[in-house]
Amino acid sequence: MTEEIKKAIYSYNIENSKLEDETKLLKETILHLKKEIDRLRQAPLLVAEIKEVLGDTAILHLKTGNEFYVNISKDVIGLQPGDAVLVEQKNLNIVKKINGSSSFGVEKFVIMEKPNIDWSDVGGLKDTIRELQEVIELPLTKPELFEKVGIQPPKGILLHGPPGTGKTLLAKAVASATKSTFIEIVGSELVQKFIGEGAKIVKEIFQLAKQKAPAIVFIDEIDALASKRIEQGTSGEREVQRTFMQLLAELDGFKPLGNVKLIATTNRKDILDPAIIRPGRLDRLIHVKNPDFEGIKQIFKIHTKKMNLDKKIDFEKIYKLIQKEEFSGAEIHSIATESGYNAIRKKRSKIIEKDLVEAIKKVKEDEEKEKRHEMFF
Ligand SMILES: Nc1ncnc2c1ncn2[C@@H]1O[C@H](COP(=O)(O)OP(=O)(O)OP(=O)(O)O)[C@@H](O)[C@H]1O
Ligand SMILES: [Mg+2]
Repeated sequence: MTEEIKKAIYSYNIENSKLEDETKLLKETILHLKKEIDRLRQAPLLVAEIKEVLGDTAILHLKTGNEFYVNISKDVIGLQPGDAVLVEQKNLNIVKKINGSSSFGVEKFVIMEKPNIDWSDVGGLKDTIRELQEVIELPLTKPELFEKVGIQPPKGILLHGPPGTGKTLLAKAVASATKSTFIEIVGSELVQKFIGEGAKIVKEIFQLAKQKAPAIVFIDEIDALASKRIEQGTSGEREVQRTFMQLLAELDGFKPLGNVKLIATTNRKDILDPAIIRPGRLDRLIHVKNPDFEGIKQIFKIHTKKMNLDKKIDFEKIYKLIQKEEFSGAEIHSIATESGYNAIRKKRSKIIEKDLVEAIKKVKEDEEKEKRHEMFF
């Protein structure tokens, strides 16, 4: 009898501990599900942007345009102005930083590429090329040379000169030679297309450049934002001024031997605000001119390299005709293309001298038309 009771007790005990285990498991499940319900019941978080960080508090910028002074949760560290964050709806406490430092995505607004332009693709401009190699290429590829000698290369340069002389081409050639990322933005777009965002875009472009370094930031038509003619009258002008100030601030923050450089271009050096070309900023000005005779020859050869030219052409005569008109590199390129069209029209596959002479005439007429147009508008 006692033996039987003992057995029964024993099996009860086993059963009991089994049930206890099961209860524990079920309790845990309930807890987990309760937590999940709580999580799902939570109010959605708002996405906002940090404007300024002040210790464990920050100034927050909401998409609505409103700004708030809020607390940062202890779990959130390393916040910076411009970061996208999640905030609680009720009190706007910052609870999480969203991956990626910016929600803005400046990449959408700029052209970013790794150009493939060799120095040999640039005709003439021998001195200009040498200068670019010395002041941009060498400091980027061999900074230690400059450290040893103890001189500081320019942070950036300004290429100025008439249209079509190869300024953009040169900038891309520098980027290729230094295997740099080429980040291009057009000054007039910066102030017209992205109203209210100019300064922010400038800031983010330089952040992007640092991420993608070595990089060359290329600002075409810089006169659109760095013109001394801009007065502070309208809000549009103030916005241009803000964008310009941001650009100066970025340049001042550059290290001369850092691996980000600025190349800017203009056709209107005369209207530039002197602040941009002050020492320590774009203090190297390079004048890019229309080609001389040797330059004409080289540019012509570059753009007719793959063309089927008649051997009987008197090339010296063609070069002289081009020289007489003071054509730019871009116009010499047009002459080459135009001569090809002339041959096609005559159902020839070879370009003869006459095709070139006529092409020169046409490009000259186009230029004159353009000039007349400019006079009227
Ligand atoms: N020195 C050159 N050597 C070879 N090609 C040239 C040269 N200059 C101009 N070109 C030709 O003309 C095109 C336009 O040149 P580019 O865009 O560099 O001119 P730009 O000086 O930047 O003009 P803009 O002031 O109008 O921006 C080039 O893509 C190239 O085909
Ligand atoms: Mg250009």
